[in-house]
Amino acid sequence: MKNTIVINTDIEKGKINRNIYGHFAEHLGRCIYEGIWVGEDVNISHTKGIRNDVLNALQQLNIPVLRWPGGCFADEYHWKDGIGTREERKRIVNTHWGGVVENNHFGTHEFMLLCEFLGCEPYICGNVGSGTVQEMSEWIEYMTFDGESPMANWRKENGRTEPWHLKYFGVGNENWGCGGHMRPEYYADLYRRYQTYARNYGENRLYKIAGGPNVDDYNWTEILMKQAGAFMDGLSLHYYTIPGDFWKGKGSALNFTEDEWFISMNKALYMDELITKHSTIMDQYDPEKRVGLIIDEWGTWFDVEPGTNPGFLYQQNTIRDAVIAALHFHIFHEHCDRVQMANIAQTVNVLQAMILTEGDKMLKTPTYHVFDLFKVHQDATLLAIESDIEIIKRGEIEIPKVTVSASKDASGICHVSLVNIDVENSVNVELFLQGIEGNLELSGTVLTATVQNAHNTFDQPENVSPAEFRQFQLENDTIDVQLPPMSITILKINS
Ligand code: AHR
Repeated sequence: MKNTIVINTDIEKGKINRNIYGHFAEHLGRCIYEGIWVGEDVNISHTKGIRNDVLNALQQLNIPVLRWPGGCFADEYHWKDGIGTREERKRIVNTHWGGVVENNHFGTHEFMLLCEFLGCEPYICGNVGSGTVQEMSEWIEYMTFDGESPMANWRKENGRTEPWHLKYFGVGNENWGCGGHMRPEYYADLYRRYQTYARNYGENRLYKIAGGPNVDDYNWTEILMKQAGAFMDGLSLHYYTIPGDFWKGKGSALNFTEDEWFISMNKALYMDELITKHSTIMDQYDPEKRVGLIIDEWGTWFDVEPGTNPGFLYQQNTIRDAVIAALHFHIFHEHCDRVQMANIAQTVNVLQAMILTEGDKMLKTPTYHVFDLFKVHQDATLLAIESDIEIIKRGEIEIPKVTVSASKDASGICHVSLVNIDVENSVNVELFLQGIEGNLELSGTVLTATVQNAHNTFDQPENVSPAEFRQFQLENDTIDVQLPPMSITILKINS
């Protein structure tokens, strides 16, 4: 069959919030320590303790927002342990992630510095599970109060005179699980209470995010929206793509069959159903769509690499991860009326990471390149698309061969991203551009591979990397493209 896509460059569907391209860095395994923070007394090149190679690579991505310090760690984190002279900071046990010593050398000041270096908004997740209202309230006072107060004075004593700007604040994490094993009714009340004391000081305005459901727990969304919807700006949702079973074996990041490829794709595409159903519930309580759905944890979750600490969640990253990332972005774009932010888990060395490090070496993963290629969609206008695409049938699985998204940026340039999910076959697609006139200039970039588990290593860090895309023919307003198997292609259309 012929695959056709009509891109209506004159029908705008909404704005793609750049925060959809957000990230998440937890005190977990080697994400913060080694991956980002190396301290000031090492031979690895750094700026004030933050490693420069990783920083430079992340700066390239235009990261809009970074979530920290967890995750499950957030509901065990006591922020006062992480300020003041580093050598005197409390050494605690990271009970959730590997039982290792957490020396608290990376705390509030270091995180805010990282955000300044990245030019991104900080998104801090507070502790509801094991922390007090006072502790949470004082943290916000410490960070954002400009004037004379016990916490602001303390901040100044610790070297920071000006308050920080802090917009995004999470009131707990996974409070149905590691964040306190609460029932939604109980958490909804706690949320109302804790958020009351999350104050707006001076000009600073908090965007408060409530801990949302686990995957398809629609009852959680219903109760939260009904009982606390009026007190929140965002509600989080967590969903990971796990080809196997979370407890019995998630599957390997590198050694997987073609069947597992398609299972992974199918599971990634499930994100669409989840967002649709949670949004439908939210619509009943918030028809104006004031409250954002915040997908503040998403990505692939495989078994850890053999021989690594099971509590560190270190996994390799292949072209499969890249395709999955692109599929997610296409879904998030389509839901841009409700999805205001998404944060991939996690930035470095943990789960579906952008970057892997080993000592002083680092590499960019295939997923990194998707974030780099797709940054052109940040804050762009989503365009309406109609498509007729072949379906892949594989046992019980039925998924489209190709997914697509198109946007127009502030200068009028259109970008079309296309994913060929098929692992074996290239696919021919005819793109019709409606509402565009004049001579078109077209260029493209592609990320692809010849084997399904292609990945980058410290010896071959460029194995999977973007290349110029030339397999297209432009005639008037029609583009004929040949998408390679397992590929992500971005077309740039200038009129
Ligand atoms: O990202 C790893 C963990 O997954 C997070 O700490 C937790 O919130 C989720 O279950």
